[in-house]
Amino acid sequence: MSSSTLDAAALERLVAAAVAAPSLHNTQPWRFRLDTDTRTVCIHAAPDRALRHTDPVGRAVHLSVGCAVLNLRVAAAHFGWEPVTRLLPCPDRPALLATVRLAESVRDAPSTGLYEAVWRRHSSRFPFSGRPLPSDLLTELTEAAHLEGATLRFPRHNDTDRVLRPTREAELRNRADVDRAAESRRLVSGPHSRSLGLPSAALGPQDARDRMPMRDFGAHRHQEVLPARTFETRPTLALLSTAHDRRTDWLRAGQALERVLLLATLGGVRASLLHQAMEWPDLRGALDDLPVDGPRVHTQMVIRFGYGPEGPASPRRPVEEAMEGDG
Ligand SMILES: Cc1cc2nc3c(=O)[nH]c(=O)nc-3n(C[C@H](O)[C@H](O)[C@H](O)COP(=O)(O)O)c2cc1C
Repeated sequence: MSSSTLDAAALERLVAAAVAAPSLHNTQPWRFRLDTDTRTVCIHAAPDRALRHTDPVGRAVHLSVGCAVLNLRVAAAHFGWEPVTRLLPCPDRPALLATVRLAESVRDAPSTGLYEAVWRRHSSRFPFSGRPLPSDLLTELTEAAHLEGATLRFPRHNDTDRVLRPTREAELRNRADVDRAAESRRLVSGPHSRSLGLPSAALGPQDARDRMPMRDFGAHRHQEVLPARTFETRPTLALLSTAHDRRTDWLRAGQALERVLLLATLGGVRASLLHQAMEWPDLRGALDDLPVDGPRVHTQMVIRFGYGPEGPASPRRPVEEAMEGDG
């Protein structure tokens, strides 16, 4: 693809990469529009895809869109464009979350391999081996988050329970909350929803020891369908956070999350997300001062890393459905 022409096929590749991003319950809460005059891709929130009980203020929508923006940037650079990104560029258009202008690149960018990882990354909700990640990789993941304006902290193993306890409590609350459970259950795809939500193959088992609070998307998973398994005893958990908690911080956190996940994928490391505690302000706040000797921050995501089976691909809506016409 030449960097001087942006034809329909090129645009399709860019948007396909963007929609390969992770999103809350695979809701894919984004829409894309190309402004041909300025060669700018506009990324809007899709209000009809928001989960109003699980994500009442739209923080997870911003995180998800941030992930898509990072993928779009990675794809643009891969095809020779210089992506110039602006977050919340128009105060009077709050649903316009970001723009990425495809500027002519003055030089050949070195390949980072991240573009290939866009297609290989999948959430893996299976037990991991418990083998620790190499310290070099931990450093690289931390730097990747930093590059996007966020912080990645790896709590000490002694603090594992301090991370898992609020997550477990949130998981219990989510299951007991009729509206949230219904929202989640609706997104576990049945025959009517082939391009949104989670296929049953992606769900993963519960922890037989009830220690690792994997999300029960079906709200009341049936053991006979998916027997519980024993999860790693010493998980590698990371907390992604930002210094502030504004909409731009959520979008930055999303970009940081996706950069971290792509880098982990390149390193052969699987990941799953434990977002439950983020959905209850008091439980989210309980994670903001970990480690106890660090500054108080705003936690945006709990990530579980490890070595284990590749997660299955979850479906995506076709690119043309994620595109808006002119206007
Ligand atoms: C904001 C956000 C919150 C998420 N929360 C969870 C979660 O709590 N548990 C989980 O297993 N996956 C979680 N995910 C992962 C999505 O379920 C996953 O990205 C989506 O189903 C698409 O699948 P894929 O990641 O394999 O492409 C979350 C993703 C995002 C962006």
